Amino acid sequence: MRRMHIQNVEPGMVLGKAVYGENYEVLLNRGVVLVEGHINGLKKRGFIKVYIDDEETADVVIKDPISDKIRIMATKDILKTYELTQSAIVSIEAETTESIIKSINTPKIKNAFQENQAFKQMCKDINSFVDELMNENILSGLNSIKSFDNYTFEHSVDTAVLSIIIAKRLFLDKDKLRQIAIGEFLHDIGKIFIDEKIINKQGKLTTEEYEQVKQHTTYGYELLKDVENIGEASKHIPFQHHERQDGKGYPRGLRGNNKIDSGNVGYTDQDKLIMIAEIAAIADFYDACISDRPYRKGLAPDFVYGLIKDGSGTQFNRELVECFLGVMPKYPVGSEVRIKNGINKDFTGVVLSLNIQQLSRPKVKLLRDAKKNKITPCEIDLSSNITVDMECVC
Ligand SMILES: [Fe+2]
Ligand SMILES: [Fe+2]
Repeated sequence: MRRMHIQNVEPGMVLGKAVYGENYEVLLNRGVVLVEGHINGLKKRGFIKVYIDDEETADVVIKDPISDKIRIMATKDILKTYELTQSAIVSIEAETTESIIKSINTPKIKNAFQENQAFKQMCKDINSFVDELMNENILSGLNSIKSFDNYTFEHSVDTAVLSIIIAKRLFLDKDKLRQIAIGEFLHDIGKIFIDEKIINKQGKLTTEEYEQVKQHTTYGYELLKDVENIGEASKHIPFQHHERQDGKGYPRGLRGNNKIDSGNVGYTDQDKLIMIAEIAAIADFYDACISDRPYRKGLAPDFVYGLIKDGSGTQFNRELVECFLGVMPKYPVGSEVRIKNGINKDFTGVVLSLNIQQLSRPKVKLLRDAKKNKITPCEIDLSSNITVDMECVC
């Protein structure tokens, strides 16, 4: 199986993973032989990449860290929680930050959130979500194909997956993992209090609009702050996931100490950057960057991997970045890659499998030569071919 750009998909190809619609109904099932109409329909709905099963990549196994069933359950919980909370908002046009915070704290909004069945269901479902991830220690990549309509909910699930895998490596207990899941599921919920026109704007935001978007952190916290039984840490993920180590983040410009501080996993001090939110900052950035959006294709995973390394110490907690690099491969399994040097320069292929000892040096299956002609597939192991350099093409 491989991930393929929709522009390269041709009639006759076989879909490797099911594609879901707006309400998570199956649009096209795995195994469907695609015809022109399917491909045009997928393009129209804004899918930029899909999974394809073909002979050349039959031995490439893309393992999802969570089952489709749990992924859909979690995504629907988030979607409905957003919808039901949103239904209590009358108008947010031309309101000030202070007046929005005031209205978030009215019983009408608080009840619409805390008492809604979807949120209650989410709190119950969180256990099976976390349970499914208990056996996973390393990711082969974040594999969801995000649709335009449900980006925020799918993004929230993927950031939770990545955060939990990082947190597990730090031996955080299950209660903390649950708090991370809830915090991540709702990390961007504050955006429902911002004018939709700004949230969905495709061009560059004005300074004033950007200032408004930044407030989603505070709004999310205001909405969650007095919910009982979800743990304090989960409320601080929405609040702190855009803070930075160097104090240049928002909303409060908190500073980090660049250390893994397992004593500081919970909420202790109102003004302290908590480690769980520092994990969320990495996961949020990674997933947001690699995801396709209506106005831009996702950035290549190896490029985003580099951005996180570059941001180590200033944007992100240095010791947590090391941890991230230990759970997320530079080149996810199933990615299309191009060799940059040596005798196979400009050959392309697909990442076949990971070398657990050297996550960034996987096995690759080469399928095309430099002139894009099909070749007899050949495998190269980057862990033993240490001079070979490559990049994702997407
Ligand atoms: Fe955010
Ligand atoms: Fe986010």
